[in-house]
Amino acid sequence: MTKIAIDGPAGAGKSTISKKVAKELGYVYIDTGAMYRAVGLKAVRMGIDTKDEKGVTSILPDLDIDIRHEGVEQQIYLDGENVSDKIRTPEISMAASNVSAIGAVRTALVDMQRKLAKNHDVVMDGRDIATFVLPDAEVKIFLTASVEARAARRYRELIEKGESVSLEDVKAEMIQRDKNDSTRKVSPLKVADDATVIDNSDLSLEESVKNVVEFIRSKIS
Ligand code: DC
Repeated sequence: MTKIAIDGPAGAGKSTISKKVAKELGYVYIDTGAMYRAVGLKAVRMGIDTKDEKGVTSILPDLDIDIRHEGVEQQIYLDGENVSDKIRTPEISMAASNVSAIGAVRTALVDMQRKLAKNHDVVMDGRDIATFVLPDAEVKIFLTASVEARAARRYRELIEKGESVSLEDVKAEMIQRDKNDSTRKVSPLKVADDATVIDNSDLSLEESVKNVVEFIRSKIS
């Protein structure tokens, strides 16, 4: 089985690019951020403070997260409900970042992620895929862009979905999330020693996809 790890900060285009790359290569795409988002959503729904380690850990034994692939689209189910759209709000982004700093949450989700990668060729995106989840991945990419470019893209995405947000707030939230994700104690966001950094600040989506696919092909063929 071939494993492609794509890590990077919020808004670098990881999921959009990884999904298209997986489609081109005929691999299964796994969005691990969606799993942290589902845990964040569950905590918020239960009225649990997402920074409260004890409270969040208490929901793990009954956690029912299911990843299904319908075409190349990954759908995520929480307690039998398809929550793929509900996890994409700014509130749940921050909740996901908070719960992802809790060791017990990571242990539970990393276990699921490794199982998913066992039986398929995968493109898996996240923050710690190359450093921790799949350290033996054949290709490791750290996808990044300037905070301005990332905030502008995320802002456009949210506006297109009908969310009412300001660019300033989106940028501030992104800076906060970058800080949380890269300074937490467990598996912080960082470039793996053997990963290749691709900065796509000045590239269009099509150019980024082409770039990443070419890089992967040069490594696995
Ligand atoms: O990729 P994303 O924005 O959907 O991820 C949401 C949050 O989940 C992110 O702020 C940090 C966390 N995350 C993580 O800690 N490890 C991963 N492998 C994926 C996401």
